[in-house]
Amino acid sequence: MTRIAVVTGNPKPASRTLAVAVAVADALAAGIGAPAGDRLVVDLAEHAPSLFDWSAPELSRLTAEVAAADVAVFASPTYKAAYTGMLKAFLDRYGSNGLAGTVAIPVMTGGRAGHALAVEVHLRPVLVELGATVPARGLFVTEPELPALDAVVATWASTAVPLVKRALT
Ligand SMILES: Cc1cc2nc3c(=O)[nH]c(=O)nc-3n(C[C@H](O)[C@H](O)[C@H](O)COP(=O)(O)O)c2cc1C
Repeated sequence: MTRIAVVTGNPKPASRTLAVAVAVADALAAGIGAPAGDRLVVDLAEHAPSLFDWSAPELSRLTAEVAAADVAVFASPTYKAAYTGMLKAFLDRYGSNGLAGTVAIPVMTGGRAGHALAVEVHLRPVLVELGATVPARGLFVTEPELPALDAVVATWASTAVPLVKRALT
């Protein structure tokens, strides 16, 4: 059974970025045949007070559960040309190679396309540093694209899903 996890680092709870991340997870689940119900969704806005408490048991449980997933979607809005400090604070909790064995999918939203490469040049390297396998292009979705989210995700998934499948074998 393939387990998919979603982590969104947005100070706003239940954000559009979270919806994008869940849409990506849905497309991956459909593409690789993973059960839709077996999904861990971590909205970091709900855990903000504990993010910098290294002994917080809830955060330790979440980092462990995400690392145990076969595929993990890491999503963030673009803040000042990069991913958020909130997502970094979560990722900083992992030790060396803490995401080894996990296929990671970097996803970012942004106001405009000018910072589209942030998902590749800022978010991907952190996931690689943690030992994750990052087989597909990161997905960057701009605000004007959000009304057509399903089509944007489907286009991305058409090339990403075969790469994710290969990485899982
Ligand atoms: C503090 C802050 C900084 C931002 N910086 C950028 C930026 O540098 N580039 C960009 O394209 N969008 C930037 N934005 C816009 C957000 O990335 C964009 O609105 C995002 O898609 C919002 O997602 P959300 O609705 O899930 O919060 C910024 C927004 C905020 C609040």
